[in-house]
Amino acid sequence: MKKLILLSAAVAGLALFLSGAGINDSAVSGEKAGLSAFQQDTLNPYQKANENCFSCHGQKVYEFTNENLGRTVKASMCNERIIDRAQFYDSNHRSFMCVDCHSDGYKTFPHPGELRMEQKFNCIDCHGGDPAFEEYRFELIEEEYQKSSHYRLEEDGFSCWSCHDPHTYKTVTRHGGNVSETIMFSNSICLDCHANNDRFVLLSDGRETNLISRHDWLPRQAAHMRNVRCLECHAEVRDTLLVSHYIKTKEEAVRGCNECHSKNSLLMASLYRYRAVEERKTRGFLNAVILNQSYVIGANRNELLNILSLIIFGFVIIIISVHIFFRIINSKRKRGGA
Ligand code: HEC
Ligand code: HEC
Ligand code: HEC
Ligand code: HEC
Ligand code: HEC
Ligand code: HEC
Ligand code: HEC
Repeated sequence: MKKLILLSAAVAGLALFLSGAGINDSAVSGEKAGLSAFQQDTLNPYQKANENCFSCHGQKVYEFTNENLGRTVKASMCNERIIDRAQFYDSNHRSFMCVDCHSDGYKTFPHPGELRMEQKFNCIDCHGGDPAFEEYRFELIEEEYQKSSHYRLEEDGFSCWSCHDPHTYKTVTRHGGNVSETIMFSNSICLDCHANNDRFVLLSDGRETNLISRHDWLPRQAAHMRNVRCLECHAEVRDTLLVSHYIKTKEEAVRGCNECHSKNSLLMASLYRYRAVEERKTRGFLNAVILNQSYVIGANRNELLNILSLIIFGFVIIIISVHIFFRIINSKRKRGGA
C-alpha cells in the first residue's frame, strides 16, 4: 500500500515536472501574486502547476523563449485572456487546476491550433445528478434557462458560462447578508454584457445595446437599478429556486409600479426571499426585512405596529367601558341616596 502511494506520488511529481518543462517555466511565486501565506498554504494544492499558466495569463505582459531566434521575447496578453489570480482563488472553482477544464495540450506553447475547437464542459456535466450539490437544483436551473430568451443564442456561443465567468464566478446571494452587495453582484453579471458593446455585438449580429433609453419609462432609473436586481422585473419567480433563471421576453417584463410598491410586494418572493425565510424564523413578522433594508413606498405594512395599535385600541375601549360603568353605578347610588 505504502509503495503504491509512493509510486503515485512519484508519477504525479514527474507529470508536474514535465508539464513545467514543456513551457517557459518562470514560476512566479505566490507572494508575487499578492496572495497571503495562508492562501498559499491552504487553498489549492495545484497553485504551483497553475502558475505555469498564470505566468502568461496572469498579467498584461508575458515572456516566452522563441526557439527560432533562440532568445526570450516579451509580448502583451490581450485583456480577455488575462485571469486575475486573487479572483480565481476566491471563486467557486478555486480548488481546480486550469487543465481540469482545459486540455492538457495547453501545456505547450505556442498552443496547438486545434485546441480552439476544444469542447468545454457544461455545468451539468459535472454537477448534474450529484447529491452534494442538490440544494442548488442544477437540473431545474437548466430547465428554466432553456425556456429563456438567451437560450436561442446558444448557436452563437451563449451558455451558462456567459453569465458565470469560469474564472471568477462565486455564489453571493446564497451567502450574502448584505442586500445591496447582492444586487450589485447580480446586476454586474447582466451589465457586463448588456452595457458592454464589445461583448454584446458578438451575440446580437452587430446591433448595439442602449439600456438607459430602454428604461426611460422608469422614473428615478439609477435609484431603481441600485435597489432592485434586473431579475426582479425580467425573471419569473419560482418558489423552488433561490435565483430565478427563466428570463422572460421583454413584453412580459414587470412594468407595473404596484408589483413592488404595494403590501404584497413581489420583492418579498424574490430579492428578499432568502432573508425573509431567515427572519421569519427568528422574528415572525413579514415586511420588516424590507423596512430595515430600504424603504419601499407602499410596502410599509408592519405587523408589530398593527398589533400595537390593536392593543392601544383595546385599552381605550376598556377604559371607556370602565368609566361608563362607574358613572352608571354612581348615578344609581345618587338616585338611591336621594
Ligand atoms: C508562454 C505563454 C503562455 C503560457 C505559459 C500559457 N498560455 Fe495560454 N495563451 C497564450 C497566448 C499568447 C494565447 C493567445 C494566442 C493563442 O490562442 O494561441 C493563449 C491562449 C489561450 C487560450 C484561449 C484559446 C482560444 O481559443 O482563444 C486558452 C484556453 C489558454 N491559453 C489556456 C492556457 C492554459 C490552461 C495554460 C497552462 C496549462 C496556458 N494557456 C499557458 C500564452 C500562454
Ligand atoms: C471550471 C472550469 C475552468 C477552469 C478551472 C479554468 N477555465 Fe479557463 N475557461 C473555461 C471555459 C468554460 C472557458 C470558455 C468561456 C466561454 O466560452 O465563455 C474558458 C476560457 C479560457 C480562456 C479564453 C479566454 C476567455 O475567457 O474566453 C483562457 C485564456 C483560459 N480559460 C485560461 C484559463 C487558465 C489560465 C486557468 C487556470 C488559472 C483556467 N482557464 C481555469 C473553464 C475553466
Ligand atoms: C469540471 C467540472 C465542473 C464544471 C464544468 C463546473 N463545476 Fe462547479 N464545481 C465543481 C466541483 C468539483 C466543485 C467543488 C469544489 C470544491 O469543493 O472545492 C464545484 C463547486 C461549485 C459551486 C460551489 C458549491 C458549494 O457548495 O461550495 C457552485 C455554486 C458551482 N460549482 C457552480 C457551477 C456552475 C454554475 C457551473 C457552470 C457555469 C459549474 N459549476 C461548472 C465542478 C465543476
Ligand atoms: C442570464 C444570466 C445567467 C445565465 C445564462 C445563467 N445564470 Fe446562473 N445565476 C445568474 C445570476 C445573476 C445568479 C445569482 C448569483 C449569485 O448571487 O450567487 C445565478 C446563480 C446561479 C447559481 C447559484 C444559485 C443558488 O441557489 O445559490 C447556480 C447553481 C447557477 N446560477 C447555475 C446556472 C446554470 C447551471 C446555468 C445554465 C444552465 C446558469 N446558471 C445560467 C445568472 C445566470
Ligand atoms: C453575454 C451577454 C449577455 C448576458 C451576460 C446577458 N444577456 Fe440578456 N441578452 C443578450 C443578447 C445578445 C440578447 C438578444 C438581443 C437581441 O437579439 O435583441 C439578450 C436579450 C435579453 C432580453 C430581451 C429578451 C427578449 O426576448 O425580449 C432581456 C430581458 C435580457 N437579455 C435580460 C438579461 C438579464 C436580466 C441578464 C442578467 C441576469 C442578462 N440579460 C445577461 C446578451 C446577454
Ligand atoms: C422595474 C423593472 C425593470 C428593471 C429593474 C429592469 N428592467 Fe429591463 N425592461 C423592463 C421592461 C418593462 C422592459 C420592456 C421595455 C419596452 O418594451 O420597451 C425592459 C426591457 C429590457 C430589455 C430589452 C431591450 C430591447 O428592446 O431589446 C433588456 C435587454 C433589459 N430590459 C435588460 C435589463 C437589465 C440588464 C436590467 C438591470 C440592469 C434591467 N433590464 C432592469 C423592466 C425592467
Ligand atoms: C421591481 C420593483 C419595483 C418596481 C416595478 C418599481 N419600483 Fe420604484 N422603487 C423600488 C425600490 C426597491 C425602491 C428603492 C427604495 C429605496 O430608496 O430604498 C424604489 C424607489 C422608488 C422611488 C423613490 C426614489 C428615490 O430616489 O428614493 C420612486 C419615486 C419610485 N420608486 C417610483 C416608481 C414608479 C412610478 C414605478 C412604476 C413606473 C416604480 N417605482 C416601479 C422598487 C420598484
